Amino acid sequence: MKVLVTGGLGYIGSHTTVKLLEEGFDVVIIDNLSNSKIDVLDRIEQIAKKRPRFYNFDVQNKESLESVFVSEKPEAIIHFAGFKAVGESCQKPLMYYENNLLSTFALLDMMQKYPKCKNFVFSSSATVYGEPDSVPLTENSPIKQATSPYGQTKIMIEEILTDFSKVQKVNIAILRYFNPIGAHQSGLLGEDPNGLPNNLFPYINKVAVGALPKLNIFGNDYKTCDGTGVRDYIHVLDLAKGHVLALKKLEKDCGLFVCNLGTGKGTSVLELVKAYEKANNIKIPYEFAPRRAGDIDENFAGTEKAKKELGFVCDYTILDACRDGYNFQTQELKRMKDKK
Ligand code: WQD
Repeated sequence: MKVLVTGGLGYIGSHTTVKLLEEGFDVVIIDNLSNSKIDVLDRIEQIAKKRPRFYNFDVQNKESLESVFVSEKPEAIIHFAGFKAVGESCQKPLMYYENNLLSTFALLDMMQKYPKCKNFVFSSSATVYGEPDSVPLTENSPIKQATSPYGQTKIMIEEILTDFSKVQKVNIAILRYFNPIGAHQSGLLGEDPNGLPNNLFPYINKVAVGALPKLNIFGNDYKTCDGTGVRDYIHVLDLAKGHVLALKKLEKDCGLFVCNLGTGKGTSVLELVKAYEKANNIKIPYEFAPRRAGDIDENFAGTEKAKKELGFVCDYTILDACRDGYNFQTQELKRMKDKK
């Protein structure tokens, strides 16, 4: 099957591309490099021993997009391309609505025009569940008012895809990711945001290699085991595997399919810090700081549906993710120094 991967050079996109190539899928990437580096293309090839075809433009560019549909004739799309910084989305809401919604519209428009492309996988997020009434969160848990425009774009796109699936003969997987962490074991792929990381794991990585002095733990008075926030951290390679399994399900003409991708286990910030220290035999200096606006006490995934309908179970532990994340960050630092 030929798969168009938008945002295929990004953090989750690159790991998924490797898995797809390893499983024999033909991959075409569109990425405008707004939050990724071109070097990732070579690294994907180095790992998978195959080079995906690559197009550098914004998915919203309808002319360029159509020319890719005409020349490549994709049968499926995995749509990763999108803005994802929660804080930034509160500062620049229009930019988030415009980018995330219009890129999705452009792709759905192409599916309407080229019906040979009838499978679509969307990167949604556990953020659509908002502040949970109870955990674990199942796919039937209520969708709550989003606390950021970023989260709102995920809810809106889920609704648009649901409506689209009612009128068009398409198969759509909405995958609700919990918190992806870790990196490829080779150390070639991982998450290395420019500037101050917004998310916990890349922040810990930077503290671990001395690029930042200490971690600020946002809040120690949550209603959790140790007062710090609890999330469901899933290794990015498990998440990547989930996409391949979802594509295989879509191939069977399943229509609309909504599924959590998480481990089913909650881990607190302090537990993650301790696991990171243990996995890598290092110290992560931290101090407690005030709560971050919009954060919730606890969430973790119900995993029954993913297991039953995709055959999805996680292969990696938190310790694996901590080891792989540190390995990537150490290698990345060295690569940056060698480049200078
Ligand atoms: C995890 C925990 C923080 C940073 C968000 C989005 C989600 C997904 C991932 C896009 C919380 C604490 C964090 C730090 C800390 N989207 N923390 N110090 O908020 O669960 O999810 O990012 O990429 O859709 O909603 O993830 O990693 O930001 O936070 O103490 O410097 O770590 O308070 O308890 P979150 P996160």
